[in-house]
Amino acid sequence: MFPRNYWYVAAWDHEVRRQELSRRTICNEPIVFYRREDGAPVALEDRCCHRHMPLSDGNLRGDNVECIYHGLTYDPSGTCIHIPSQKTIPPEARVRSYPVMERYHWVWIWMGDPALADPDKIEDFHWMDDPGWRAKGEKLDLPGNYQLLVDNLLDLTHLQFVHPTTLGTDAIASNPITTEREGDLVRVTRWILDSPPPPFLQKAGGFRPDENIDRWQIIEFTPPGFVRLDVGGARAGTGATEGDRSQGVTMRNLNAITPETDTTTHYFWAQAHNFKLDDPTVTDLVFRQVHTAFLEDLFVIGHQQGNLSAFGDDMPPGVDFNQDAGGLQARRVIERILADEQAGVNLRATA
Ligand code: FES
Ligand SMILES: [Fe+2]
Repeated sequence: MFPRNYWYVAAWDHEVRRQELSRRTICNEPIVFYRREDGAPVALEDRCCHRHMPLSDGNLRGDNVECIYHGLTYDPSGTCIHIPSQKTIPPEARVRSYPVMERYHWVWIWMGDPALADPDKIEDFHWMDDPGWRAKGEKLDLPGNYQLLVDNLLDLTHLQFVHPTTLGTDAIASNPITTEREGDLVRVTRWILDSPPPPFLQKAGGFRPDENIDRWQIIEFTPPGFVRLDVGGARAGTGATEGDRSQGVTMRNLNAITPETDTTTHYFWAQAHNFKLDDPTVTDLVFRQVHTAFLEDLFVIGHQQGNLSAFGDDMPPGVDFNQDAGGLQARRVIERILADEQAGVNLRATA
């Protein structure tokens, strides 16, 4: 079960192409994506209402989709507008159409009640196309449940063990976190003061290995699966803790985590930086460093999911530690949303 009344990232803008039908499962629902002749994206249930042939196997006729089996044709609202064998089109001859929006180079989809699909509810990822930043990202196929990745990003004590060649240093796990809640937002903050820079910040920030830095990791989760990290470092003792980051570098690690099925996830992410904007090799460097690290996370989460699936209902609950405070808060937020949606409480409409 997944929260329904939310915008999810469905695709990078370049993944949804003109003159092409593509199938992607989101929250266990197969969906066909395409672009209308004016370029606007369309998302329909990927199932013909007649005999359930995937519409993604069919043909685009202008703005409409023709099923490849017996030729039923649907318009972008999901309404059947042509049945080759008869003139009368019964009202039930339709498939579900999903609200879609393009923003921040992503195609967003609303999985719940279309009447509640307010574009203002799309999460803020302005760093993706803000002229004061440069960002580069990708989609990864995560072989695990989306909440495993939310846990992962809210508990960065794993950096020194999973990512020793990029993001990790020995000092991370021993520095405490603070955890805050603001409504459904969960914020985890960690400062690692006066300690050596990790390989990633040596490369991106130009710090020498023997030059200590004050490093920050400010992680914000919002439901259902968005995690934005404000990360960076500055020369030790130059005022970063009071807000002066002029002697350092700042980046945003941006994550939109979209459930595909209960055990697989579409992982959209990007790394943004606000320094050396005119040097694309820097954008590429920070992307590649994080990409290397995230493949390591995919390995860990895939094996976690393998164990969860293998043990099934016999899996005892994991033991929680202080480091899990953020992840546990995020899970509580999701549990409350699921309970509210089950009970028909329409919080998004009244928010
Ligand atoms: S299954 Fe689509 S027209 Fe028959
Ligand atoms: Fe990681």
